[in-house]
Amino acid sequence: MKKILIVYHTLGGNTEAAALVAEKALKDLPDTEVRRKKAGEATLEDLLWCDGLIVGSGDYFSYMAGALKDFFDRTFYPSRGKVEGKPCFAFLTHGGGGAAISSLEAIARSFKFKRLVDPVLIKGRPDAEAEKRLVEAVRKFAAFVAGS
Ligand SMILES: Cc1cc2nc3c(=O)[nH]c(=O)nc-3n(C[C@H](O)[C@H](O)[C@H](O)COP(=O)(O)O)c2cc1C
Repeated sequence: MKKILIVYHTLGGNTEAAALVAEKALKDLPDTEVRRKKAGEATLEDLLWCDGLIVGSGDYFSYMAGALKDFFDRTFYPSRGKVEGKPCFAFLTHGGGGAAISSLEAIARSFKFKRLVDPVLIKGRPDAEAEKRLVEAVRKFAAFVAGS
């Protein structure tokens, strides 16, 4: 059984809608346990628990959500030596920019997470096309995690 954690933050609901799509895509897979947590409630234990991490954020002033940054701040030192190489996939909802993806990628590099699948950027609330892209990416990510 492979365990995947989805950590995200939402203000207006767009990122939560995407997180729910990602969760559903994973729940349809065999031998996969999914835990979906808002960043403010996610803990070090969640991060250590998972075999693969999915991070979702809106773009706020070209940066990730503060709550997500706080999650990474809280878990960075205590997770040293325990999470390096852990597969990580990121998705971002935005209003037409999307520059915040680079902040997620930079943090993933600091944690030394493994990037197996390109991030998915979604403008606004995910429509059918965006949902399809996200489901494909999430399933690809889960397949890598299953094989790791
Ligand atoms: C305070 C604030 C700042 C934002 N800054 C940006 C930005 O710099 N670039 C961008 O593309 N969208 C920006 N947006 C739009 C959001 O990224 C977009 O609406 C996103 O889908 C919000 O996700 P949410 O509905 O999960 O909160 C901003 C929205 C807010 C509320």
